[in-house]
Amino acid sequence: MRILFLTHAFNSLTQRLFVELTRAGHQISIEFDINDAVSIEAAELFQPDLILAPYLRRRIPDALWRRIPCFVVHPGIPGDRGPSALDWAILRGEASWGVTVLQADEEMDAGDIWASVAFPMRAATKSSLYRREVTEAAVEAVLLALSRFASGTYNPAPLDSLRAETPGQWNPLTKQSDRAIDWSRDDSATIFRKMRAADGFPGVFDTLRGEIFALFDAHPDETLRGRPGEILGQRHGAICRATVDGAVWITHLKPIVEGERTFKQPAAAALGERIAGIPEIPEPEAGVTWRDIWCEQRDGVAYLHFPFYNGAMSTDQAARLEAAYRQACQTDTRLIVLMGGADFWSNGMHLGAIEAADSPAEESWRNINAIDDLCHAILTTESHLTFAVMRGNAGAGGVFLALAADRVVAAQGTVLNPHYKNMGNLYGSEYWTYLLPKRVGGEGIDRVMGRRLPLGAPEARDLGLIDDCLGTDRSTLDREIRQLAEAMAQPAEWKRRLREKARSRQVDEDIKSLSSHRSEELARMRLNFFGFDPSYHIARSNFMRKIPISRTPLHLAHHRS
Ligand code: COA
Repeated sequence: MRILFLTHAFNSLTQRLFVELTRAGHQISIEFDINDAVSIEAAELFQPDLILAPYLRRRIPDALWRRIPCFVVHPGIPGDRGPSALDWAILRGEASWGVTVLQADEEMDAGDIWASVAFPMRAATKSSLYRREVTEAAVEAVLLALSRFASGTYNPAPLDSLRAETPGQWNPLTKQSDRAIDWSRDDSATIFRKMRAADGFPGVFDTLRGEIFALFDAHPDETLRGRPGEILGQRHGAICRATVDGAVWITHLKPIVEGERTFKQPAAAALGERIAGIPEIPEPEAGVTWRDIWCEQRDGVAYLHFPFYNGAMSTDQAARLEAAYRQACQTDTRLIVLMGGADFWSNGMHLGAIEAADSPAEESWRNINAIDDLCHAILTTESHLTFAVMRGNAGAGGVFLALAADRVVAAQGTVLNPHYKNMGNLYGSEYWTYLLPKRVGGEGIDRVMGRRLPLGAPEARDLGLIDDCLGTDRSTLDREIRQLAEAMAQPAEWKRRLREKARSRQVDEDIKSLSSHRSEELARMRLNFFGFDPSYHIARSNFMRKIPISRTPLHLAHHRS
């Protein structure tokens, strides 16, 4: 089918559906929902069989849904309507939730239902649920709806026919007052529920040191106590606040300033001088607390976790990760598994920390050098084999960081964006000029870097970018990772691969040294950061401040190219 995506943005769910429906043989073109006339023009140009709205924030124009079947993906159970579906599901503590594909008509979210898929809820942020459960359910529901539509015989269920069976109903837009934290009363569980329902957007607004900030990324702490609401300490750029029954770490803040487009940044950077004198609290040996890097050892394998918020890795995080990696190399293990986080593997440099720095150009330079140091440490490891496991999505430098490992796999549903160009034509580093051609050949470079489109894990495997895909089911994923890791760490196999790795590294080094690759890449990055062309700085500022764009990029809107 020819399917036009009408969407507010090319967000993670839209990217995943793009990858899945392209794989299923459909022809996809994309138009951002900027104004009615432009959407109608897009449909005229593309002549779609069907319009799919994976992520829309307003009604589809009458002139479209009256002429062309328009399927809307709603992150709620049948009957649920309104703009804050997941927020309310989290706030109400629903045990299960779902995704519904319905046909657009006069009333928003109230059209006939083509498919719905349910999932159990998890204690997680709205964006984590959206990236995992909602996305998996949406893919299943959209594929089912499309096959029902293609059959020509399926009659979608009118919402009214389901009223007796479903608890779903209309809910208004959530307001700050629905999740405002009362530090003198709310226990930690309540604070987590409120914050999770607003993370990643819009965050819970709260006053800190006399100014309003949106709070993001909360983690429990059972080692610290204090007066409820008080800032007890800081660690790695995060702050810890006391609650009535414990404490909570908050890693990111967004200043709320009337009339200004602000952006998320590490909490300590956002508070600056306001938290001068607040003590740095080292990670305790034991007890429930927040850490952003940790290593577990089991059966000859070290599993290194680094679930950085939104996959963004600051200079400090890259340096600490390199130190943790080097420490893992000192343990009595044979294999290091680079686990990243469960939601994101990595999205490269921390553009929020860079944006917040006094000199974004200098901070970009420090950040990329710290990530390059980490890549170099991985690439030149002689004592261990390395294994990158992308359980969550990865973008830009984050993808190339993974390629530094001896073996690279991704979970089946992972979406990779292995290119830098969308960030103001950034050249990129992370030794990509060495790692990419080694995997996809010289002719594959443009297919990966030049397309500027997301790749599904199976497509990445077929291109040779990664070695393999793992199962879809999260519960079997961990077992699968352990089995693969333990097989790689078997002494005989390990010895053979380690010898082969040392030999191949030496051959490559003789052809062109790692330091030459790095200095050539960094010479181009220096121009991006300090040169005459400000594209990267403008693109980064717009990306972090979420400045809306006025037209759909041509690499997405095929009907316009
Ligand atoms: N630094 C800081 N924040 C980042 C980030 C980065 N490198 N990459 C993503 N984020 C944030 C986004 O601002 C967004 O924040 P939100 O929670 O306020 O919405 C969140 O992570 C999710 O990103 P989003 O762009 O909405 O996800 P997506 O799935 O639609 O797209 C990418 C994924 C990777 C294509 C996109 O995030 C991207 O281009 N990131 C920048 C990558 C980059 O250029 N890194 C620097 C060069 S190494």
